Amino acid sequence: MPLVPGMDRIAYGGDYNPEQWPEEVWSADVALMREAGVNLVSLGIFAWAMLEPAPGEYEFGWLDRSLELLHDAGIAVDLATPTAAPPPWFLHRHPDAAPITREGTRLGGGARQSFCPSSPAYAAASAGITEQLARRYAGHPAVVLWHAHNEYGGANPFCYCPTSAAAFRNWLRDRYGDLGKLNDAWGTTFWSQRFGDWAEVEPPIVAPTTVNPAQELDFFRFSSDAHLANFRRERDILHRLAPGIPVTTNFMLANCKNIDYWKWGTEVDVVANDHYLQAERADNHIELAMCADLTRSVAHGRSWLLMEHSTNAVNWQPRNLTKAPGELGRNSMQHLARGADGILFFQWRASRFGAEKFHSAMLPHGGTGTRTWREVVALGAALGELAELRDSRITAEVALLWDWESWWGLELPWRPSQELSFRERQEAFYEPLWRAHRTVDFAHPEGALEAYPLVVAPSSYLLSPGAADNLRRYVAGGGTLLVSYFSGIVDGHDAVHPGGYPGALRDLLGLGVEEFEPLADGRSVRLDDGRTADTWAERLELHGATALASYADGPAAGLPAITRHAYGKGQAFYASTRLTSEGTAALLDSVSEAAGLPLAPDLPPSLEVVERHSDTGAYLIAINHGSSEVVVPGDGVELLTGDVVADGLPVPAGSFRVLRRGDQTLPRSS
Ligand code: GAL
Repeated sequence: MPLVPGMDRIAYGGDYNPEQWPEEVWSADVALMREAGVNLVSLGIFAWAMLEPAPGEYEFGWLDRSLELLHDAGIAVDLATPTAAPPPWFLHRHPDAAPITREGTRLGGGARQSFCPSSPAYAAASAGITEQLARRYAGHPAVVLWHAHNEYGGANPFCYCPTSAAAFRNWLRDRYGDLGKLNDAWGTTFWSQRFGDWAEVEPPIVAPTTVNPAQELDFFRFSSDAHLANFRRERDILHRLAPGIPVTTNFMLANCKNIDYWKWGTEVDVVANDHYLQAERADNHIELAMCADLTRSVAHGRSWLLMEHSTNAVNWQPRNLTKAPGELGRNSMQHLARGADGILFFQWRASRFGAEKFHSAMLPHGGTGTRTWREVVALGAALGELAELRDSRITAEVALLWDWESWWGLELPWRPSQELSFRERQEAFYEPLWRAHRTVDFAHPEGALEAYPLVVAPSSYLLSPGAADNLRRYVAGGGTLLVSYFSGIVDGHDAVHPGGYPGALRDLLGLGVEEFEPLADGRSVRLDDGRTADTWAERLELHGATALASYADGPAAGLPAITRHAYGKGQAFYASTRLTSEGTAALLDSVSEAAGLPLAPDLPPSLEVVERHSDTGAYLIAINHGSSEVVVPGDGVELLTGDVVADGLPVPAGSFRVLRRGDQTLPRSS
């Protein structure tokens, strides 16, 4: 099934904000879109004030005309509900709907997402404009997709106003039923926090010292759910009034800590994501790949849409570095390789005014004489050759456990070390797997794992009893699990699992952790196999596991550092310290071998290769991030050039190629 009904090509385009331009510009826009191969634009994302200039007064004429122009040119529309940017009249009429920060500051307008996610006034106003749009454009032939809101929780992830406090209490009542259960779950006997009345329960506002961590965790959950309720309201209106048109919203996967996207993946009809490079990172293309793999995983393996990325520099980083020539194309192909069936940008035409005028666009201020424009046109032409890749699937060999709740818990205050970082652990394992050309899925700790020969738990600090059972079942059934330090420590209320660390995983790992040994800043330790590590060590006691390497010095000198435990038909490895990236790569190599994974393809690490398969074909997408040509083994037809490839696919430096394979799999080194 195509990602978007009726779209018979890879989607290509971006956010289109015609309301920022006089109508004379619109026909030039459409002509240039055709030149660039654009076939889908996201329209009206921030146009609420132009659509409803006063409450209940609507002006749809300009949108009608824009839609018509686009449709006449064969450009499909992802029509937005403009609810991420309430007009000035909204806050003026509903001052109580302004978000309030943890510190108690009331946030003003003049920006976007200035609303309390739990505000009834916002719910009514956003439902109102959504209904109007749904009724008016339900049958419009240009509209193939709905874009609800924009990046839920991007600018207003949390609100601590009295309305939010009341909504939080209601959410807690639904979750716990009675106050006694809440008191137990939050451990309120600690520091005299016991509640006698629901009215005493507050969001975790700034307090003289650290707030109850279980309260913090529930506030994260509540806040993510508050945004989800806003999405569901709009989606349900759109489904009801405009049936048959799928509804999406743009996620901010990987970089957004505040939204639990596992819960959202099944709520949208199409998973869509926004990704922006961390421009100053040398390995930012690896971070991009990780984010794309996470998006596919949240989509449960289905194709997804890259709703936004940038053609060139953004405007909101400390230094907004430009992309190198060819980087725009490579970035786009990385997303496509990892499951995107559409490549869109923020935005079509660079704004002349407003906060984002220095953000790049498909059509820069400099117009069509720019290298960005030339690359945009070239990418459009390339994507035009790749329609047959749509809806093909990717098979991963390894799953990394990713859990937003664990991320929240791990990084709350007063942990054994401030160096404990969720993203750092994920990337520490993802990066060597990427360099070894292993395709990775991300999985929820309670999700299905049987398909993966190898599962890695980068730092599963918070692990529910159900998740621990899931891991036990997976290993007992023959799986191989690699667990990084400080995993399985607490349950969903941030309460330590009983029986000593790591309570949830002791039997599975065949060990206990007597003490954590966070290392002082700049301090490293050596292992007896010559590897070095830093940040963290542990004093392990083995109860069935065997030591693969021990600490040669440091606070745990002489004790095991890396272990293996046979469990049922499988095995569980444990790494109690933060190895260097070379050390982590070597560990992953040996664990992959133990898991029975075929050897990684013998290709340079700077070459990215991903295979996509469908009933009709097998494809290899090769992206060369290096500075010399690489020849990838294989035969078939190169789709961009039409060349028949008999003895290897040459991929020029900095470029990409897409092979419809004759032979069905990539040969592995022996
Ligand atoms: C995104 C947002 C866009 C635009 C873009 C700039 O987060 O959805 O509207 O602001 O950032 O990089």
